[in-house]
Amino acid sequence: MKKLIVTLAALWPLTTLAADPWGKADPVAGHDLHEKACVACHVRLYGGDGSKMYTRDGRLLSSKLDILQRVAACNAQVHAGWFPDEEGAVAAYLNKQYYHFKD
Ligand code: HEC
Repeated sequence: MKKLIVTLAALWPLTTLAADPWGKADPVAGHDLHEKACVACHVRLYGGDGSKMYTRDGRLLSSKLDILQRVAACNAQVHAGWFPDEEGAVAAYLNKQYYHFKD
């Protein structure tokens, strides 16, 4: 039994990583980054606060990993110049605010 607990404890970081591909990234920091580099264009496309991009029918993403990959691609595309931890923060923010994916 003790051995099982030790094994589970050792696996804990892995399971957390699998649950959140962005680790412990800060969604609050992600909000600000997203506001600066991303919102204006989505607003031009969809009006309002631009959030319809993330909530529309037929949206493109269906998992946490999708969000992270898409944020990384957009970062490169619009030359936002974010580091991976900043991409993670924006992905964490988008999931918390709009997508609500469990995995
Ligand atoms: C110049 C305009 C523009 C800018 C700037 C922009 N986007 Fe987008 N974004 C788009 C368009 C257009 C789509 C929809 C693509 C499609 O439907 O194929 C999109 C789609 C997305 C999606 C997927 C939405 C879905 O369907 O679930 C995400 C996530 C996203 N953008 C994040 C970002 C982030 C993060 C940034 C800032 C780094 C950003 N975008 C900057 C134009 C832009």
